[in-house]
Formats: sequence, C-alpha cells, structure tokens
Amino acid sequence: MIIDIGTGDGRFVYQSARRNPKKFYIGIDPNVRQLEKISEKIHRKPAKGGAPNVLFIQAAVEDLQPELNGVADELHVHFPWGSLLRTVATADVSALRHLRKICSLGALLEVVIGIDPVRDRSELDRLGITELTLQYIDEVLTPKYAEARFELTERGIVPASEWPEFNTSWAKRLQQSEQRPITYLIGRAV
Ligand SMILES: C[S@@+](CC[C@H](N)C(=O)[O-])C[C@H]1O[C@@H](n2cnc3c(N)ncnc32)[C@H](O)[C@@H]1O
Repeated sequence: MIIDIGTGDGRFVYQSARRNPKKFYIGIDPNVRQLEKISEKIHRKPAKGGAPNVLFIQAAVEDLQPELNGVADELHVHFPWGSLLRTVATADVSALRHLRKICSLGALLEVVIGIDPVRDRSELDRLGITELTLQYIDEVLTPKYAEARFELTERGIVPASEWPEFNTSWAKRLQQSEQRPITYLIGRAV
C-alpha cells in the first residue's frame, strides 16, 4: 500500500495508480476541494481513465484514522505546506510518530520539500522553520526522525531545474522557477 500525505489534487496518486494497477494507493489531505476532478475520474471504467486501486481520505497528519495503522509500505510527503511542512522540516517528533504509526516495519519514507529561504521567509518564520541545510538535516533532523523510528538513509538538496521528471502538480509549478532548491529525505520505518 502506498500512501501520499498532503496529496493536493491527487495527481501523483492517480498517475502512479494508472501505471501500477496491481498496487493500491491512498491519497490523504484535509483540503479536499482540490481533489474534486481526480476523485470523480477514478470511478470511471479503467479504459476511460478510471483507477479502482485508489482511495482518497480527508484527514490531516494530526488526526489519521486508526484503521490506517501499519498499512503503508511506502509513505510520500511531496511539497508540503502548513503544519505538514512544519512536521517534516522541523522533525516534530510527536507529529512524525503519527506518520510512523501508519507505516509497516521497513516502509519507505520519501519527503520532498520545495521551500525558498528568501521568498517564503515570513511563512517559514511563522512555522518556526530555520533554513534547511545538509548540516541541519544531519545534526538536527536525523536524530529526531530516529526518535520517531524513521532511519534517514539519504538526503540532498538540488536546484528544482535538476530535479527529475516528477508527477505532482506542485513539482511542475516549482520547476518553472528554478531558483527554488528542492530538499529530499529518504528513509525507512524501523
Ligand atoms: C503545496 S500542496 C502539495 C500537493 C501535492 N503533494 C503536490 O505535490 O502537488 C501542500 C498540501 O499539503 C496539505 N496539508 C497541509 N497541512 C496538512 C496536514 N496537517 N496534514 C495533511 N496535509 C496537509 C495541503 O492541504 C496541500 O494540499
């Protein structure tokens, strides 16, 4: 089972599910208005763009349904904002534990963050997020992720223009302003 938290308009989930019909995808977001188009599409016949292997759930990371406990073999967080961004970019241990709870042992974690330290400064200040550097990731985030039982195995910062083709609406938007660095964290649930 693959879970995408902060799924936005559901594009990543939908396109991945169409490509991998044998895998099951869940997209989660508290704001479901953006999901209207794709959640209508998934109910069509597969030949007409349907995706029976997709489920969308309205929820925030802070209130994930207990039915989701242990179900994710892959957990994705792509271009989060608001409290979801705060959770992954400050490694808020109690909120990360909510994410860990829905993972199976060994589940893959992929976090992709696209914040611009200059343009997004006021929002970053509001959320209490300092600049994301490799040193900060290694010295501050990695131990806190470990406390929440996620072992970070890979991390990096690349210019948006060098980020490979990526199927989310925000990735496409950000790639047009290539100044914005993309920070990624890869890990697994331990
Ligand atoms: C910039 S959009 C990215 C959407 C999508 N992942 C993409 O890449 O196109 C950020 C998403 O995070 C969601 N979000 C914000 N706070 C959240 C929270 N506490 N729990 C879950 N999702 C949240 C928002 O509703 C929004 O859809």
